[in-house]
Amino acid sequence: DWTMASFRDAKIAEIREQVGSGRVICGLSGGVDSAVAAVLIHEAIGEQLTCVFVDHGLMRLGEAEQVVSLFRGSYNIPLVHVDASADFLGGLEGVTDPEAKRKFIGAEFINVFEAEAKKIGGADFLAQGTLYPDVIESVSFTGGPSVTIKSHHNVGGLPERMNMKLVEPLRELFKDEVRELGRELGLPEAFVDRHPFPGPGLAIRIPGEVTKERCDILRKADAIYLEEIRNAGLYDAIWQAFAVLLPVRTVGVMGDYRTYDSVCALRAVTSVDGMTADTYPFAPEFLSRVATRIVNEVAGINRVVYDYTSKPPGTIEWE
Ligand code: XMP
Repeated sequence: DWTMASFRDAKIAEIREQVGSGRVICGLSGGVDSAVAAVLIHEAIGEQLTCVFVDHGLMRLGEAEQVVSLFRGSYNIPLVHVDASADFLGGLEGVTDPEAKRKFIGAEFINVFEAEAKKIGGADFLAQGTLYPDVIESVSFTGGPSVTIKSHHNVGGLPERMNMKLVEPLRELFKDEVRELGRELGLPEAFVDRHPFPGPGLAIRIPGEVTKERCDILRKADAIYLEEIRNAGLYDAIWQAFAVLLPVRTVGVMGDYRTYDSVCALRAVTSVDGMTADTYPFAPEFLSRVATRIVNEVAGINRVVYDYTSKPPGTIEWE
């Protein structure tokens, strides 16, 4: 009968068979999925794997450091850390359409992987932590017409010119199964239980134009929100929680002064697989505390709102 241990063994055999003596590059995003994929593939083919962590400048506060230390410290998996933030943020200048953001970021990731592949003398495969819901949602919306809701850049959309083949060992799994596989592979509990974080990062949590300044503002607000969630002991009860920085300015008052700054929206949902989601029902006092802290501590934000939309009809991310 089916167990995660037998799944792991079967996948390891499958990866060895697919890859042969080829070289694999695995893109780490900072999330659970790509980390689990990397550790699994490393078990299968060892030194034929090179992991590349691309810092696109769209990470959350402290995230890049956490990923690098997990891989370099806890595992003996070679990790190339590429700071590509100037290229990503430069290319996003003036881009406001959500799909255009995703397409640009996806293409830029491929550019970086190709450049890194060249440096190690070529790679035959690109590994990604694509999950089953990513595959479904990029194809069609459950029960609805066959339209793309969001083109997750890590699904299918590799440019023709790329001559690496894909290794996607998690393609049949749901999130809870990936977490179980992660535990099976010995990943630290705190890492396995992290909330999902999308590949395009903060770019899709800043409707309108993405700039370094907007990212910095959002990082601060998001860190305060998550800190309060952890302090309240709510982190593990929530599927995903994050702040969104809106391209809307409103009037406020701070002491004797008029302010005219951005609005920050808070999102928190419960979900089993990310395909449907319910709003997390925070106590009003909790939300007041977070709103007060964000407005007091983050320059550039003077109003905080809570998103009460379930999925469907909303999606989890705002873009
Ligand atoms: P939505 O917003 O579609 O999100 O309800 C469902 C889940 O998918 C994540 N998400 C992404 N993950 N690349 C990713 O790797 C993407 O482009 C992307 N868009 C959404 C989202 O964070 C949620 O967990």
